[in-house]
Amino acid sequence: MFSEKRRKIIKAGLATALVAGTNPTLIRAEMKKQLIKKAIPSSGEDIPVIGLGTSRTFDVDKQERQFKLLPVLDAFFSNGGSMIDSSPMYGASEATVGRLLDKLDRPKGLFSATKVWTDGKQAGIDQMQNSLSLWGLKQFDLMQIHNLRDWKVQGKIRYIGITTSHNRFHEELSTIMKNEELDFVQFSYNIGNRTSEETLLPIAFDRGIAVLINRPFQRGDLFSKVKGKEVPEWATEIGIKSWGQFFLKFVVSHPAVSCAIPATSKARHALDNMQAGFGELPDAAMRERMLGYIETV
Ligand SMILES: NC(=O)c1ccc[n+]([C@@H]2O[C@H](COP(=O)([O-])OP(=O)(O)OC[C@H]3O[C@@H](n4cnc5c(N)ncnc54)[C@H](OP(=O)(O)O)[C@@H]3O)[C@@H](O)[C@H]2O)c1
Repeated sequence: MFSEKRRKIIKAGLATALVAGTNPTLIRAEMKKQLIKKAIPSSGEDIPVIGLGTSRTFDVDKQERQFKLLPVLDAFFSNGGSMIDSSPMYGASEATVGRLLDKLDRPKGLFSATKVWTDGKQAGIDQMQNSLSLWGLKQFDLMQIHNLRDWKVQGKIRYIGITTSHNRFHEELSTIMKNEELDFVQFSYNIGNRTSEETLLPIAFDRGIAVLINRPFQRGDLFSKVKGKEVPEWATEIGIKSWGQFFLKFVVSHPAVSCAIPATSKARHALDNMQAGFGELPDAAMRERMLGYIETV
């Protein structure tokens, strides 16, 4: 499953981009308004930098309420979306995703990511099997071990990852990242919470592990910080038209970040968020400027 050679080639590319001071990483955005993708280091497969989270927002069990979320998924796929992140821990979210994928006639390009969240091998296999049937899939692209529970599982999956959103697990997570062969890791990172810049992001970069970022809006709290304020003029120069795009472009322009997975229950927010995955990403100087601005509001 792992190709050390491929990882090394990709890491070399990352280093060159950084030294050259160009837009970081393996960004496939030669032209403005092009869909931005980054490569999964263990395989070289490209994924768009903006994905979709489903915790809370997709946890609705009545069919008619699930169908109200159809425009969200439609906006996502119509704008190049691929990575959808869910979990058995998110109530009815996996069932909602499966039902809406059916409704959209199984859109091409889905990168399915869920989690296993139980102890014991058989319980893990049963849970993954149940998730496959809820999503209506034969195979998951990515299986992540939720909150570091009993992480030795095997199944019908392409990539293996591990996930948490709690700072208290960072030490344990970094030990696993240093010692195990992981394709993906998922944790929290946003312009208001940059703890993962200290150890997790550098380790992921160094080890060639793809990074999914949860809570890119700090569960929505970042929006209250900038309420009533316009996006600064200098940010609009690289095509940032909203605070959602400002926050997301900050996250995905970190050299170690592969994809952010914002959650939303609204199609207009899904559309807004997907626009952050097109055009230019901030360079190091622009990132500093964004940070300086947010620290003063
Ligand atoms: N341990 C783990 O593995 C773990 C832990 C936490 C999260 N996650 C994953 O990460 C995903 C994202 O994290 P999260 O859901 O906690 O928080 P988040 O994505 O940081 O924030 C979601 C909130 O932002 C709002 N929002 C989204 N787009 C917006 C926009 N363009 N403008 C204004 N408001 C906007 C949403 O409200 P509206 O509905 O009104 O748009 C929602 O309240 C989760 O859904 C889940 O898939 C994983």
